[in-house]
Amino acid sequence: MTFIVEIFPGLREMMNLHPVWVHFPIAFLSVFFLVDLLAAVFRSRALFVVANWLLGLGALGAVVAAAFGLQAALTVPHPPQVHEILETHRYFALNATALAWLLLIWRLLNRGRFWLVGRLFHSLLALFMVLNLMLAADYGGLMVYKHGVGVKAVPAWPPGASGHRHGSAWDELREWMHEIIPHSHAPGHEHHHHAH
Ligand code: HEM
Repeated sequence: MTFIVEIFPGLREMMNLHPVWVHFPIAFLSVFFLVDLLAAVFRSRALFVVANWLLGLGALGAVVAAAFGLQAALTVPHPPQVHEILETHRYFALNATALAWLLLIWRLLNRGRFWLVGRLFHSLLALFMVLNLMLAADYGGLMVYKHGVGVKAVPAWPPGASGHRHGSAWDELREWMHEIIPHSHAPGHEHHHHAH
């Protein structure tokens, strides 16, 4: 395990893996909703099967994310004003996880054969699941980006070192080109080496 941490310096600084893992259920379950909607609109069996897989992976991913989250809540220190945000986050996240499993079990039990009203209700429930998921993610981000939960204290920058901003996205892309093709030359551009 330790070699993984050596290749990924960011991972080494994390208190827990919850913020790493959450991307999987967020991506799988939101794309599931869209693909399943397209499957219904175009009556496509192929898209329906893709949606099944997305939902399955998302439901499994959500359980793992929730387990890491419950562990994070036990171990990451948070002030009283954050406690309520954490409970709201937990509420929406567990709702989304339970709804994802409900949708999955429904699809497995009926083997993908829906009655028209059932299909409509299934998609409405999927929308409700994604809304819970988005709200959970939003409250999660609020904890991190506003209140710094799970974030190490940022050291003060040395005096006189005013933080610099990057000028344009084109410059960023040009810099990357120089990194992968070192001898390429762009007029008027300073070569920039990053410390490793
Ligand atoms: C499907 C389930 C879940 C999803 C998708 C989810 C999503 C998120 C997201 C997006 C963040 C912000 C991460 C960042 O900005 O880097 C977060 C943070 C957090 N979540 Fe969750 N969450 C889930 C379940 C839970 C549960 C059940 C708990 C338990 C109460 C929980 C506790 C936390 C805590 C304590 C943080 C602060 C950051 C940390 O130290 O981990 N999460 N979550």
